[in-house]
Amino acid sequence: MNTQDIEALNETLQQLSPREILAKLLPTLGRIALSFSGAEDVVLIDHFVKVKKLAAQSGASSEINLHAFTLDTGRLPAATHRFLERVRTHYSLELDVLMPNAVAVNSLVREKGLFSFYEDGHKECCGIRKVAPLRAHLAGFDAWITGQRRDQSPTRSEVPIVEIDTTYSTPERQLIKVNPLANTSSSEVWQLIRMLDIPYNELHDQGFVSLGCEPCTRPVGPGQHEREGRWWWEESTQKECGLHLSSDRR
Ligand code: ADX
Ligand code: SF4
Repeated sequence: MNTQDIEALNETLQQLSPREILAKLLPTLGRIALSFSGAEDVVLIDHFVKVKKLAAQSGASSEINLHAFTLDTGRLPAATHRFLERVRTHYSLELDVLMPNAVAVNSLVREKGLFSFYEDGHKECCGIRKVAPLRAHLAGFDAWITGQRRDQSPTRSEVPIVEIDTTYSTPERQLIKVNPLANTSSSEVWQLIRMLDIPYNELHDQGFVSLGCEPCTRPVGPGQHEREGRWWWEESTQKECGLHLSSDRR
């Protein structure tokens, strides 16, 4: 796809719901990876499972080649592990749980300890525990799906529904990135979770809104933006871990 194709596709998709977006795109994108963080982006899994069921009923399921994965950084809260397991069984979902390279983690920890991100920022640790495993994983796919939303962060205010992922594409292989929830608000996500009785991470009942690794996530108070609970010791414009550089318009 070229930039014009992407623009035209975004025009069309603007009017559609997340589930309609998935129904339209999933059969066309080849081998697709769905990234699931273990938080409220569980709605993506719910949409995917239902789209796949509908496609199966219409005899077209073989066209959808989608594999869900999560990046287990080694620092996730235990509650998130429990939640991943609940989602896996609830949806009979095959979920790849990807670990970082043990040698790279060991080298960082030996040199700087287990909490270096509080001293010199989260980029190095996220690079080893999230970005490198993601890059290796995406090398086997034509497209990936994320739960990014525009209302999540100042750095995501212009996230498109579909884009060419300039971070993880290579000269030999173009990677398409789809953000079906781009236009969905946090309250719409939560309405859906309540209405459809979708399982959710128990940490959301303890004041956590945006969820990530245990040492880098804390609950937010009333009136605080959800992103204030992530890497709270850093500037708001620095609060990307590097997974989504191509979507970052700031
Ligand atoms: S992050 O960049 O700050 O860590 P965030 O938590 O907002 O990301 O999640 C946005 C989207 O990034 C998620 O919906 C998911 O698609 C992807 N993502 C984030 N963390 C992970 C993870 N640990 N494993 C898989 N995907 C993730
Ligand atoms: Fe490391 Fe924190 Fe990034 Fe997790 S969020 S990979 S613990 S810096």
